Amino acid sequence: MNYRTYARAVIAATDLAGKLAPPPAAIDLTPADDDDTAPPPTWPGRPNNLQIVHGKFAKVPPIAGMRDPQQRARIIHALANHELQAIELFAWGLLQFRDVPVPYRRGLLAILADEQRHCQLYLDRLAAHGHQFGDFAVTGHFWNKLDDYRSPLHFSCAMGLTFENANLDFAQEYANAATEVGDLETAAVLQRVHDEEIAHVHFAWVWLQKFAPDEPAWETYIAHLDHPLGPHRARGKTFDRDARRRAGLPADFIDRLAHVEAKRPSGQPR
Ligand SMILES: [Fe+2]
Ligand SMILES: [Fe+2]
Repeated sequence: MNYRTYARAVIAATDLAGKLAPPPAAIDLTPADDDDTAPPPTWPGRPNNLQIVHGKFAKVPPIAGMRDPQQRARIIHALANHELQAIELFAWGLLQFRDVPVPYRRGLLAILADEQRHCQLYLDRLAAHGHQFGDFAVTGHFWNKLDDYRSPLHFSCAMGLTFENANLDFAQEYANAATEVGDLETAAVLQRVHDEEIAHVHFAWVWLQKFAPDEPAWETYIAHLDHPLGPHRARGKTFDRDARRRAGLPADFIDRLAHVEAKRPSGQPR
């Protein structure tokens, strides 16, 4: 199967099985043939109970809600939704960016497969809380930024160096909160997601350097984010310096991020 056929199927799927079907081992990553010229979908297929709604209809409890298993379920549901969108957006990136080196394409596909496993891990924890995917409303934050992903470099700056970068803090904060309330299984899942996101940030960092080898990295990063995205969205209230170091970010890049004030999508400080 060609990677484009697979990526289209993932985005179009209207059932969870289609979203979570892993890439075939023998997938063909060679550049697209010229027949497949249709642009990628700009909106995903979804089951009825996972249709994207406006954020005001899909409120997620604050982290303090981890104490209450019912609120915790809503948080886990929102985290599963982030993974679902990541799956779809990495599929979208595979379709959108035709003229990329095969190793970049291979990396996007490997991350997609990781996000599928992350999603399933959260869904297992959701089931342990008596819920299933679709029980609560979901937002489409990553899909709403489609216009920002104008090039592979823009895509990696937004997805990898901003959203996934911030998750190095969020996932750790949630893991710590789950540990504090004694939900060690949820904590273990969050810790694993946190640890695996390090490689995703690393991937984006490596390709930022390849796509813009002669430019200063921090300036390149900033220049490839559209307002209101920015480095203030690439971190949490806490700052996991060690995770960034393990992702391969250089010390000066980490320092600059450490001095940025973390902000919510609303623009309010965290
Ligand atoms: Fe993930
Ligand atoms: Fe990721």
